[in-house]
Amino acid sequence: MSIREDQVLTQYNKNPRYLSKQFIDSIPWGEVKKHPLPDKFIPIILYMRDIEAFTDIYYKQLIKTPTGKDPIIRKFMDRWLVEEATHAELLNRFLNEAGYETSQRWFEEARQKIPKEYTFKDKVTPMLTNMFGKQFTPVHMTWGAIQELSTLQGYKRLWEMAEHPVLEYILKGIAKEESTHIFFYYTIAKIKLEESKFGQKLTNFIIKNFWKPIGSDIKPAEDTNYVIRELFNGVNALDIVKNNINGSIERLPGFEDSAVILERIASIANQKTAISA
Ligand SMILES: [Fe+2]
Ligand SMILES: [Fe+2]
Repeated sequence: MSIREDQVLTQYNKNPRYLSKQFIDSIPWGEVKKHPLPDKFIPIILYMRDIEAFTDIYYKQLIKTPTGKDPIIRKFMDRWLVEEATHAELLNRFLNEAGYETSQRWFEEARQKIPKEYTFKDKVTPMLTNMFGKQFTPVHMTWGAIQELSTLQGYKRLWEMAEHPVLEYILKGIAKEESTHIFFYYTIAKIKLEESKFGQKLTNFIIKNFWKPIGSDIKPAEDTNYVIRELFNGVNALDIVKNNINGSIERLPGFEDSAVILERIASIANQKTAISA
């Protein structure tokens, strides 16, 4: 018998929060300054912090749609929102401890820099997705799975490249929670896609035509491009994308070909621009 949606939620909720008070209290903040943090990683951590915090915006969009009204998905979303907010706070605190001051109002300031087109889409997207009703849920779930998978790989690259032990400790903790998000999105996507051939077609169409790396629409393009170039430049890094992101997505029903994800990441990662020169 295949797994049901309520069982997926039960399974997800079986994991206590990895970033418990005990974990957070165990972070050796006093050690942060003892290890170098090359400047090139600062914009990457800022980007990740903002994307984590912008979950709030995405959450508010999603609850207006049939996906967000699904009681099982909504229960997941409520916990997910809290977890992503902790990720943002930890990254912000890390920057402060490393000597990079951030404003008290950093979230508001980051919000003000959201490109105008996004603010427009923010209003239109729920309307569009509502037109498809519940048929759009596999799109949301697959999209979410891809974004969580890429976030996890991004963190992994960051801790490997930065070689900062406290950053690594924090990111590995965050990664544990990202893995549970992947589990939820991915498993629900699979169930929803299995249920509907139309859902498969719609999801394939939307991902092929509209998918962009995480943050691409809510952050200025040069910021997203910088992060991807720094983290995924080079053949080995693209193998990581291929094996860990595409590989998983291609196992979803109706998703035998997800080359578009790799292609879009690769085309940015291998660009040579003024910033990377
Ligand atoms: Fe996160
Ligand atoms: Fe996540």
